[in-house]
Amino acid sequence: MKPIHQRPTFLLLLLTFSNASKATNLTSLVNLFIGTASGANGGSGGNAFPGAAVPHAMAKVGIDVSTAPRQAGYIHDNSSITGISLLHDEGTGGNTDGGYGNFPLFPFIGSCTNSSGVNNPECEPGIAARAALRAAGTDIASPGYFSTTFVSGIQIETTSTRRAGLIRFTFPVSNATNYLVVDLTNDLGRSFSSGTISISPLGHVELGGTFLQSYGPSNYTAYACYDFDSPVLQAGTYQSVNTSSPTVFDISLSSTSNMSLEFPFTSSVSPIQAGGLIAFNSSQVVARFGVSMISSAQACSNAEDEIPTTSDGVWDWDAIMANSNNEWEGVLSRVLINVEKENSTVVELLYSSLYRASLIPANFTGENPYWDSPFPFFDAMFCSWDVFRTVHPLLSLTSPQEWSQIVNAYVDGWRNTGYIPECRANTTPGYVQGGSDGMPILGEFAVKYAANAEELGVPMDDLYQALVDTAENTPPNWLTVGRQNTAWKTFDYIPTDWVDPSGSVGLPTREASRAYEYSLGDFAVRQAGIALNKSQADIEKYANRSMNFVNMWDPNVTSDGFSGFAQRRYQNGTFAFTDPITCSPVDPIAHSCARGDDNDSGFYESSSWEMSFFAPHSVATLVQLMGGNTTFVDRVNNYFSKGYFTAGNEPSFNVPSIYHYAGRPDLSALRIRNVVFTDFSTQIGGIPGNDDSAAMAALLTFHLLGLYPVQASTQLLIGSPFVSSYTLMNPLFNTSTTFTVSGFDNTTLVASPPSGGRVFVKSVTVNGVDTGSVCVIDFADVVGGGEVVIEVDGDADAAALRGCGPAGLPDSLETGGFPM
Ligand SMILES: *[C@@H]1O[C@H](CO)[C@@H](O)[C@H](O)[C@H]1NC(C)=O
Ligand SMILES: *[C@@H]1O[C@H](CO)[C@@H](O)[C@H](O)[C@H]1NC(C)=O
Ligand SMILES: *[C@@H]1O[C@H](CO)[C@@H](O)[C@H](O)[C@H]1NC(C)=O
Ligand SMILES: *[C@@H]1O[C@H](CO)[C@@H](O)[C@H](O)[C@H]1NC(C)=O
Ligand SMILES: *[C@@H]1O[C@H](CO)[C@@H](O)[C@H](O)[C@H]1NC(C)=O
Ligand SMILES: *[C@@H]1O[C@H](CO)[C@@H](O)[C@H](O)[C@H]1NC(C)=O
Ligand SMILES: *[C@@H]1O[C@H](CO)[C@@H](O)[C@H](O)[C@H]1NC(C)=O
Ligand SMILES: *[C@@H]1O[C@H](CO)[C@@H](O)[C@H](O)[C@H]1NC(C)=O
Ligand SMILES: *[C@@H]1O[C@H](CO)[C@@H](O)[C@H](O)[C@H]1NC(C)=O
Ligand SMILES: *[C@@H]1O[C@H](CO)[C@@H](O)[C@H](O)[C@H]1NC(C)=O
Ligand SMILES: *[C@@H]1O[C@H](CO)[C@@H](O)[C@H](O)[C@H]1NC(C)=O
Ligand SMILES: *[C@@H]1O[C@H](CO)[C@@H](O)[C@H](O)[C@H]1NC(C)=O
Repeated sequence: MKPIHQRPTFLLLLLTFSNASKATNLTSLVNLFIGTASGANGGSGGNAFPGAAVPHAMAKVGIDVSTAPRQAGYIHDNSSITGISLLHDEGTGGNTDGGYGNFPLFPFIGSCTNSSGVNNPECEPGIAARAALRAAGTDIASPGYFSTTFVSGIQIETTSTRRAGLIRFTFPVSNATNYLVVDLTNDLGRSFSSGTISISPLGHVELGGTFLQSYGPSNYTAYACYDFDSPVLQAGTYQSVNTSSPTVFDISLSSTSNMSLEFPFTSSVSPIQAGGLIAFNSSQVVARFGVSMISSAQACSNAEDEIPTTSDGVWDWDAIMANSNNEWEGVLSRVLINVEKENSTVVELLYSSLYRASLIPANFTGENPYWDSPFPFFDAMFCSWDVFRTVHPLLSLTSPQEWSQIVNAYVDGWRNTGYIPECRANTTPGYVQGGSDGMPILGEFAVKYAANAEELGVPMDDLYQALVDTAENTPPNWLTVGRQNTAWKTFDYIPTDWVDPSGSVGLPTREASRAYEYSLGDFAVRQAGIALNKSQADIEKYANRSMNFVNMWDPNVTSDGFSGFAQRRYQNGTFAFTDPITCSPVDPIAHSCARGDDNDSGFYESSSWEMSFFAPHSVATLVQLMGGNTTFVDRVNNYFSKGYFTAGNEPSFNVPSIYHYAGRPDLSALRIRNVVFTDFSTQIGGIPGNDDSAAMAALLTFHLLGLYPVQASTQLLIGSPFVSSYTLMNPLFNTSTTFTVSGFDNTTLVASPPSGGRVFVKSVTVNGVDTGSVCVIDFADVVGGGEVVIEVDGDADAAALRGCGPAGLPDSLETGGFPM
């Protein structure tokens, strides 16, 4: 453990901050509705989840709307809602109907049977009829709490723990019979294929159902358990009379006997509508739920453990909510700023982003249905392709304990399946997008925390073997895990039109994108090899392989007068031409740019213009290939001015700061101001694309702090922060590192800073010592405790001449960087 730096000025600062943080409730600064606009009709749908959840929660409780797209269940518009359900994802793409959304509750005022016991046709528990409009402006969300009110006056509120929660229904008419539907069959994707429900006369409900995962070929089985705090008049089941008539129901209620339904597995999705119905005459009903991936009995014990019945015989709503809020306060307070002093828009963006970046991955420890293990199990690693660039590097700064558990889950995936997980979603492997991008995550853990691995409980020999196996072996089908290493090792690139003689299959598209990502993956093995004292032979082998991205480089392709672009390549060595603007936002021709047999561009959710900038471990190679500093800078400028920058997708993330590698951090500073104020805002449409498991949130956090991580390394590019000062806490090292911007100028907090605005980094000192670089800072300094002073000025000409300073450019393998 490193001691907190003891300089008197720093102690003073710390005092100020602790006063500020006592006075300010950081959770109150989080806007959970950022990124909840509808993505319909070309809208900027962030698919952010605004419901109740603790950090890294499994239970993510929230309302679900009737119209798609609705990946996270919720949309902040006037659409009707079909229920409140227990599990959700954060900001994903994939199935536009959404993922999870299991076992929703839905409240009714009215009667399902008339006084002769005959079914009332107005009571239709099925999804088609069951939709309620929200009263305008009644959606309320804060960390650990969500509430909405129907036009009919029924209010729904929720709060939660890791695997359990409470949902409170307040009905407007106290003397009415009120019903709750407990839906068995409708997840967001309407993908039910089998399940059971049992319900007791007291309203104890246990459910289990099998559903399709939202981004992958498999299915999963989830379980839930419900109890209610109010006297039950009657309880029972409903089901559609047959599968071809899902809106005509058999309802059977009883006040004396248990009832159950069972639907055996059908290979196609079942349209059956079925579940439980419970009648109450209380004006307020609280439901307690537990969720599990193991059994309904475990769902019940999760509920009992996490939300015990107090000695007064109640569930303590206020305590659960306060606990959730405190957990969030703990996470958010690892990045402290003076919230009164800084720009309030920036403050809201920062804390809202930090919030979302700790919603995922989801802690499913104890809920692994596939193997027994003493190691943690996480879900919503969805996909590593999205999150390796920013989410994991952010966790590395301020959440080392959480991060080490997640890293252990990656390693345990390898331990039990032979490969590290790439896109685990709904507990099971989803589709591989490009490389096996857990590799840079594990490599980065090795370079940052190898010395602390024992304390953190991460077996590093296993981590290294996981990397090597994923770098060497090819699974029988690399659709959902692993890489096409047969091709990579045979050709030193990913050929088009090659049938693997080993018989291994996968989706043989996206060749150029995969080669770039495989290269970074191999660099991650090299880095881990150095950190873990592995053999020189291994280190050299993976260093060499990490440079193979150059083999996808066709020097003869030109676009806008710039020469040399990444391209597809046949096994005979000839390149296959793709216009470099294909799949950019201004591509004039409709192309499939995603996964799928019909993607024939060689690139994945990106263009050659963009992917040609992707070699974080050796950008110097790209600068050379592109013709040197001046042409490189022109080319980056052209990429932005011609509209090739895809702000809403991850392959673009490294480009705004890539000017650093041509010695022009001044241009990065201006570009990042522009990106932040053009593409992000505090509005519901304030994320330029899907939040992508908070990849966007973590990116924005880095931009605001004036940092950008070089993946699988200890380097961070340093930039021009959007606040005058901030303090990062690292709970493992027990350090506080205060970054102060000397000369901070808030007139630069705009898309185009005014001439003379002090936005250019002039010097950086760490604990009083000039680092000699205005381009790069090491992880050890970012989390080492003490004071980092970033001096800024507004002299653009001087900044352009300054370059990176005497310590030189950020590292590249090409120029001898990342030394052993
Ligand atoms: C902090 O703010 C949240 C709303 O975000 C509120 O629920 C909570 O009670 C507040 N806590 C304190 C201690 O004021
Ligand atoms: C919902 O909002 C849309 C778009 O603002 C509007 O066209 C529509 O009429 C609204 N519907 C209702 C039921 O208010
Ligand atoms: C109950 O509903 C049935 C069918 O609609 C109807 O025939 C019967 O009269 C109703 N009984 C009462 C008491 O309303
Ligand atoms: C509720 O009670 C009021 C007053 O006794 C009565 O007028 C009304 O019909 C009742 N409503 C229901 C739904 O039973
Ligand atoms: C879904 O799960 C069942 C067992 O519950 C299994 O038999 C079936 O093959 C699975 N289907 C898919 C598409 O994975
Ligand atoms: C399903 O139920 C509906 C409504 O009762 C009925 O009209 C229809 O014939 C039934 N279909 C089958 C296949 O049983
Ligand atoms: C800059 O600070 C001044 C003085 O506190 C304030 O009035 C102004 O609104 C701030 N501008 C921005 C863009 O934050
Ligand atoms: C995950 O859950 C386990 C079991 O409750 C707990 O020990 C661990 O601290 C949790 N980790 C995170 C990051 O939530
Ligand atoms: C580029 O073009 C030149 C001249 O036509 C040709 O000789 C060379 O082989 C080409 N290079 C590649 C990699 O196709
Ligand atoms: C290489 O293979 C491609 C695809 O089969 C073919 O079009 C091209 O002519 C070949 N080039 C050479 C030099 O044989
Ligand atoms: C590019 O600029 C950097 C930083 O100013 C400098 O170190 C490097 O030598 C330049 N490269 C070339 C090829 O001029
Ligand atoms: C904060 O900065 C934004 C963006 O420049 C500006 O619109 C806003 O007015 C500033 N807020 C304050 C309080 O100055």
